[in-house]
Amino acid sequence: MAEQNKVAQPRIVLGITGSVAAYKAAELARLWVKAGITVDVVMTAAACRFIAPLTLQALSGRPVWTEMWQGAQDGIQHVALSRGAQAIVVAPATADFLARTAQGRADDVLSTLCLARECPMFVAPAMNVQMWTHPATQRNVARLRTDGVNVLGPNAGELACGEIGEGRMLPPEEIVAAVSAHFAEDTAVGKMLAGRRVMLTAGPTFEAIDPVRGLTNRSSGKMGFALARAAAQAGAEVTLIAGPVALPTPSGVTRIDVVNAQEMADAVFAHVARVDIFIGVAAVADYAPAAPAEQKIKKETSETLTLTLRPTIDILAELAQRAPQVFRVGFAAETQNFAQDIATLGEAKRQRKNLPLLIVNRAQDAINADDNEVILLDDNGAHPLPRMDKSLLARRLIKEIAQRLRQKN
Ligand code: CTP
Repeated sequence: MAEQNKVAQPRIVLGITGSVAAYKAAELARLWVKAGITVDVVMTAAACRFIAPLTLQALSGRPVWTEMWQGAQDGIQHVALSRGAQAIVVAPATADFLARTAQGRADDVLSTLCLARECPMFVAPAMNVQMWTHPATQRNVARLRTDGVNVLGPNAGELACGEIGEGRMLPPEEIVAAVSAHFAEDTAVGKMLAGRRVMLTAGPTFEAIDPVRGLTNRSSGKMGFALARAAAQAGAEVTLIAGPVALPTPSGVTRIDVVNAQEMADAVFAHVARVDIFIGVAAVADYAPAAPAEQKIKKETSETLTLTLRPTIDILAELAQRAPQVFRVGFAAETQNFAQDIATLGEAKRQRKNLPLLIVNRAQDAINADDNEVILLDDNGAHPLPRMDKSLLARRLIKEIAQRLRQKN
């Protein structure tokens, strides 16, 4: 009864897996408890070989979960543990844990909890450099990121095995700061776009040359998908028009797959009437083969091959004419080295396309990367943002867009 009357304290589930860095999790628990956060600790069997559950129990002042069926008499407790929690933070996260989570396994209490969670999840990897750089681990980490898991670190430095390289778990203070930054951004975004309809384009386009070949570009679609996810989290009804990418659809987002610039333009114009905000993140081809061959083009020895290209429709510029009431946001990638040059080119593009907001970045930095550094250009000038993880950046950008839309109305 007394429990019910208390104002709920923020609560974090701290998962610990079997790495030498497990001792640092004790400091992590201590920092959070000191900050007034309730910490529920869940440990794998391997973690218990590195640090005693008793230590974590003493620091958190709560029972430590190590067994799948612990507390089963009170219902399915291990699943319930994440309900109402602000986050699950797994630190350290071993290569094995990342692999199991990427696969959606539920073979111990921690992995089951992660699969059944409704809250955000963070992992702080810690392992030997070879394990970290192994393609299998990198594949698993990429998978986790697209599933919406926030990956913190690792750092480079001297590792427990004596080798030097990437694989050190982030220091506990940095993990605490990163989790707090995530929530500060989330609180700011809140439901800022509730009741709004947002349409985005993302990824590259593919313009056929013949039935087996085409012109495309190196856009991964990650930034557009992260923005779609962030817009949905901010309460918007989101339509995502995606070029050819192999990314999973963020939850709550309606996706329309297209291949070429014309199909992308058709999909945008067919749905734009109902939209409040349009964000063009796609790297749309500016030119397409004028007459794609119906049959595969054959190699003619010693002849050069000339392709005739015709310009495609500029979706964003066209929207300024067709749907001026929509808040239009462009995303431009430039290849210049200096921020000033990028901003100057971007501003010219913003004027040309008649956009209230253009987000500009260095193409070399952004393509396929998991983080990005952008400059916002609007009627009030250039506003640079620091480099950050694409999912954090997406939430920040949604906040910037929502604020501008509010000012406009
Ligand atoms: N864009 C578009 N339709 C096109 C080309 C671009 O809607 N046919 C949008 C992109 O989605 C992006 C913005 O325009 O939001 C800027 O794209 P970018 O390729 O940088 O601009 P371009 O106009 O193609 O300029 P350039 O390639 O000359 O830099």
